[in-house]
Parts: sequence; C-alpha cells; structure tokens
Amino acid sequence: MALAQPPEDLGPGRAVFMSKCKVCHGSTGEGNPAVARALKTTQPVLYAETVQGKSDADLKKIIAMGSGKMKPVAGMGDSDFGSVIAFVRTLKQP
Ligand code: HEC
Repeated sequence: MALAQPPEDLGPGRAVFMSKCKVCHGSTGEGNPAVARALKTTQPVLYAETVQGKSDADLKKIIAMGSGKMKPVAGMGDSDFGSVIAFVRTLKQP
C-alpha cells in the first residue's frame, strides 16, 4: 500500500518563504525580533488565528501590497503567491 502523500507539494512554497519571508518572519513564522525592533513594530506570528483566519486572497494582497509596516514583497512570481500561502497554512505553533 502506498504511503499517504501530503495533499500538495510544499517544496516550492517553502523555498519562496525561506528566500522572501524568513528574514523578517523567521523560518517558523515566529518573527525575527531584530527586524521588529528596527521597524519599531511586531510581526504577528504567522500561525496565529488572526493570520490563519484571513482568506488566501487577503494573504495575497498583504504580500503584494504590504500591510502596516510590512512593505510589498518584491520579486514574487505569479505562481509564488499560491505556493507560499500554502506553506504559510502549514505553519503551526511549535
Ligand atoms: C522586510 C520584512 C518583512 C518581509 C520580507 C515580510 N514581512 Fe510580513 N510582516 C512584516 C511586518 C513588520 C509585519 C507587521 C506589519 C504591521 O502590522 O505593521 C508583517 C505582517 C505580515 C502578515 C500579517 C498582516 C496583517 O495585516 O495581519 C502576514 C500574513 C505576513 N506578514 C506575511 C508575509 C509573507 C508570506 C512574506 C513573504 C512572502 C512576508 N510577510 C515578508 C515584515 C515582513
């Protein structure tokens, strides 16, 4: 019998997250305190209900347009949005 497969391949989303988001949000979505200090704000932890409760369209808008002190993320390809959002959905409180 085949082993259960994850519903989608998160590899591409993980790669986008590590190159585009990790510097500010940390590899687990906890946030990088040095960046928070520099920007004089705090990043919400990405597995928080306030973030996970947003729709994919909202998350795409945040990434593309920025939100509060978060600037729009540059250099995102069309397919990067869906894959990075799928990855963000897998982040859980460690
Ligand atoms: C330059 C640093 C930086 C980068 C890069 C960055 N973020 Fe953020 N992000 C922030 C900060 C700071 C906030 C908090 C903004 C505020 O509330 O003022 C934030 C907030 C968020 C929020 C919550 C927004 C809200 O309105 O609740 C989400 C979701 C998010 N980021 C996702 C991402 C994703 C996904 C990426 C990568 C594609 C990314 N961020 C890249 C700094 C960054």
